[in-house]
Amino acid sequence: MRVLVVGGGPGGLYTALLIKRRNPHAHVAVVDRNRPDDTFGWGVVLSDLTVANLRAADPTSAAPISAALHHWDDIEVHFGGRTVRSGGHGFSGIGRHELLAILQQRCRELGVELTHERELAPDTLDAIVASEGITLVVAADGINSTTRTRFATTYRPDVDLRRCRYIWLGTPRRFEAFTFAFAETPSGWFQAHAYQFAADTSTFIVESPWEIWEREGLAEMTEQESIAFCERLFDFVLEGAPLRANASHLRGSAQWLRFPRIVCSEWVHWLRVEGRHSVPVVLLGDAAHTAHFSIGSGTKLAMEDAIALDARLAADADDIATALTRYQAERSVEVLKLQNAARNSTEWFEHVDRYARLDPEQFAYSLLTRSQRISHENLRVRDGAYVAAFERWFARQSGLTITPGTAAPPAIFTPYRVRDVTLPNRVVVSPMAQYTATDGLPGDWHFVHLGARATGGAGLVMTEMTCVSPEGRITPWCTGLWNETQRDAWTRIVRFVHEYSTAKIGLQLGHSGGKGATKKMWEGVDQPLPEGEWPLMSASNMQYLPGVSQVARPMTKADMDRVTDEFVRATKFGLDAGFDWLELHCAHGYLLSSFLSPLTNQRDDEYGGDLVNRARFPLRVFSAMRDAWPAHLPMSVRISAHDWFAGGNTDDDAVEIARMFRAAGVDMIAVSAGQVVKHEKPVFGRMWQTPFADRIRQEACVATIAVGSITDADQANGIIASGRADLVAVGRPHLVNPAWTLTEAARWEYSGATWPDQYLAGKHQLDRLLARERAAAGVPVATAGPPKGELT
Ligand SMILES: Cc1cc2nc3c(=O)[nH]c(=O)nc-3n(C[C@H](O)[C@H](O)[C@H](O)COP(=O)(O)OP(=O)(O)OC[C@H]3O[C@@H](n4cnc5c(N)ncnc54)[C@H](O)[C@@H]3O)c2cc1C
Ligand SMILES: Cc1cc2nc3c(=O)[nH]c(=O)nc-3n(C[C@H](O)[C@H](O)[C@H](O)COP(=O)(O)O)c2cc1C
Repeated sequence: MRVLVVGGGPGGLYTALLIKRRNPHAHVAVVDRNRPDDTFGWGVVLSDLTVANLRAADPTSAAPISAALHHWDDIEVHFGGRTVRSGGHGFSGIGRHELLAILQQRCRELGVELTHERELAPDTLDAIVASEGITLVVAADGINSTTRTRFATTYRPDVDLRRCRYIWLGTPRRFEAFTFAFAETPSGWFQAHAYQFAADTSTFIVESPWEIWEREGLAEMTEQESIAFCERLFDFVLEGAPLRANASHLRGSAQWLRFPRIVCSEWVHWLRVEGRHSVPVVLLGDAAHTAHFSIGSGTKLAMEDAIALDARLAADADDIATALTRYQAERSVEVLKLQNAARNSTEWFEHVDRYARLDPEQFAYSLLTRSQRISHENLRVRDGAYVAAFERWFARQSGLTITPGTAAPPAIFTPYRVRDVTLPNRVVVSPMAQYTATDGLPGDWHFVHLGARATGGAGLVMTEMTCVSPEGRITPWCTGLWNETQRDAWTRIVRFVHEYSTAKIGLQLGHSGGKGATKKMWEGVDQPLPEGEWPLMSASNMQYLPGVSQVARPMTKADMDRVTDEFVRATKFGLDAGFDWLELHCAHGYLLSSFLSPLTNQRDDEYGGDLVNRARFPLRVFSAMRDAWPAHLPMSVRISAHDWFAGGNTDDDAVEIARMFRAAGVDMIAVSAGQVVKHEKPVFGRMWQTPFADRIRQEACVATIAVGSITDADQANGIIASGRADLVAVGRPHLVNPAWTLTEAARWEYSGATWPDQYLAGKHQLDRLLARERAAAGVPVATAGPPKGELT
C-alpha cells in the first residue's frame, strides 16, 4: 500500500498517522506547500466527544493534545451595553500551531514521510501516482482544494459563498469565557467570536456582512488599519489588549475572507493510470465539505473523517472501492447534520440587524439556540440557574408578577395578550380540516373534536378552514359559514369551549379557489371529485394537478365584489357565534393565496404583476373583514412564506406581505409554507418553517405564529423564549393526543397548567408514572441536543 496525502493540515496529518499506525509496512507520504511551523489562523475548538474519539483512535497523539487543551465552560454575550453569561458548555481549545506540531511529531515517530514547502499541482498528480506506484491519494488540501477543482466533474462541488467577510486574528487578552461581542457602526453590525486556546493567547475572529464591511471602508484599508479599526470597535471587550494577524501570505483587505459552504456529491475520483488499475483520489476534511466556523467544527470534521477513512480501509482491506463508498456514505450523513446546524448559525450571524431589536436577555438566548440544535431543556441541563433566571425575565415580559427566587412558568405557559383577548398559554391547535361536515354544517364530530382539544389545555383552538360559500369549499364535506344554521352549530361549539375550558377559540375563514371540488384527504388528496364538482375560479387560469384537476377560470371584478361580501358575511356570523379570534386563510394555493404567488397569478390588471398588485385583493378582503370584526378582537392571516419553487414567493416576499397586512391592521401572521404548486420542492425537517416566522417577526415587526413539525414542548419553549414566534401552532400531534398541552406540561414537570377537574385523577396517575420513569432512567427529563463542547 502506497498512500499519498496532499495537504498537511489536521485532516491530512491525522489520516497519514492513523493509516501508518495500522499498516507499519505501508508507505505513507504527506506533501504540504507550507513550512512545518507556518501557521495561518490561531486556535481551534474541540469538543469532549471529539477528544474521546481521538483517544480511541490513537492514544499516543491524544495524550499531548489533551494536555495542551485549554478548557472553559461559559459563554458570554456582550450586546447593547450588557453582558449575559451562561455556563456548562464545556469547550476545549488548542492552538492550530500546537496541534499540527503534535501531529507532525507523531507522523515522524511512526515513519510517515513528511515533505513541506512542496506545492503539488493537481495536473502533476497522474505522473507522481504512476512513477511512485501510489495506490491511494488522499486529497486533504483544504477549503480551496485544487484537487477538487481539477476533478470537479466527478466530485460536483456545490459552493455557496456566504454573506459575511471575516478576519481571523489573535490577541494576548485572556478571555475567561467563549465570548461573542457585538458592536454597531454607522453602517451596521460587526461581531467578534473570541476564545482562549493557550495560556496567553486567544483567537479573535471579526466578521460583518460584506456590504457593511465595504461601507466602513475596510476594502481600502491596509492590514494595520484593519486591525486598528477592530481594536477600536471591540475595545469594550479587548480592554486595551492589541489584536494581531498571522496570515502574512494574504495582503491587506485580502485577509478578510468570505466563507464558502462546500458540499460535494461524490468524494472519490478514480484516476486512470497507464498500464495499471485506476487509483482512487478521495476527498477529506475541508476539501470535501465545510461547516461555518461559528459552530467550530471544521477541525473536528476533518479529524473524524480521518478516523472513519482509516477504519473503513481496515474493515474492507481487500476491497478499497467498497471501503471508500462506505466512508463517503458514513461521513456525508454526519457532515449533512452539522451543515444543517451550521446553516442556521451562519444565517443568524449574517443577520444580526434582525435580532438587534431584541432585549439583551433574549438576544443572548436567541444566539445560544440559533442552530436549533441546543434546545431549551438542553440549556437547562447545562446551566439550570441561567435558564431559571431567563424564564423569570421572560414571564415578567409576558405580564406575570414573579417574585425573585421563585420559579417562573416555561415560556409556552406564559399568557399572551392581543387586543382584549388574553390566551392562557402560547399553544395553538393548528387549523385542520376534518372533511366530516354535511352542507357545511359542523356536527357532533366537530363538537367533540374541538371541545376535546380545548379541554386538552391549548391556549387557542382554531377551527379548520371554514368556507365562506358552498363553492368556496375544498370538498363537499368541509365546514362553512354562509347561513344561520351553520352559525348556530358553531355557537354550540364556541359555548362549550368557553364554558368548560380556559381556551379561546378562533375561526379560520377561507375560499378554496382553484383547489376546490376535490375528494376527502384520505380518499385522494387534491384529486377531483368523480361527480358533483362545481366550476372553480382562481387568480388566473389554474390547474393544480396538471392534466388531472379541473381548470379554474380567472376571477372577474364582479366575482371579487361577491367573494369580499361573502367573507364579510361569514365574519359577521362568526362574531354572532361568539368566536374570540378571526383568521384569514391566504396560504396553500387557495383563492387568496393564488393571488399572492407569481406562480398562480398571471393577471395583467391591477391585481397581478408586482407584489403590491398581487396583494391587492387579499388585502381588500382582509380590510373588509377587519371593518366588520370588532376592534377589541384580534385577527391573524395565514400565509405561505415560501413557494418552494423557482420563480415563486420566497421569505423575502413573505416579509413584504407581512408588512402590508400589518399596515392594514393584522395582529399576527401565521407562518406556513408551500402547497401553492404541486411540483414544489420543500425542505422538510424539525421546526422547518420556524425560520420564516422568525424572520417575519424581526423584520416586519409583527407578531407571528410558528407551525410545522413542532412536536414537543421543549422545541416550542425554545421558539417562544428566543422570540422566533409569539405562538406555536401544533397540528398533527393534536390529532393523536387532544391533551397534547397538558401531557407535555406533565412530561416536563410543569404543575401550573389548568386541568379540568374531571380529569385530575388521570393527571395524578400520569405524574406518578412519569416520576417513576424518570427515576428509572436516572435523569430529570429526556433532553435531546448535541454533546457539550460543540459550538452550536
Ligand atoms: C476563521 C476560522 C475559524 C475556524 N475555527 C475553527 C474552530 O474553532 N474549530 C475547528 O474545528 N475548526 C475551525 N476552523 C476550520 C478549520 O481551520 C478547518 O476546518 C480545518 O483546518 C480543516 O482541516 P483540513 O486538514 O481539512 O484542511 P487545512 O487545515 O486547511 O489543511 C490543508 C493543507 O493543505 C495544504 N495544501 C493545499 N493545497 C496544497 C497543494 N496543492 N500542495 C500541497 N499542500 C497543499 C495547505 O497548505 C494546508 O496546510 C476555522 C476556520 C476558519 C477559517
Ligand atoms: C388533516 C390536516 C388538515 C389540515 N387542514 C388545514 C386547514 O384547514 N387550514 C390550514 O390552514 N391548514 C391546515 N392544515 C395544515 C396544519 O394546520 C399545519 O400547518 C400542518 O399540519 C403542519 O403542522 P404540524 O407539523 O404540527 O402538523 C391541515 C393539516 C392536516 C394534517
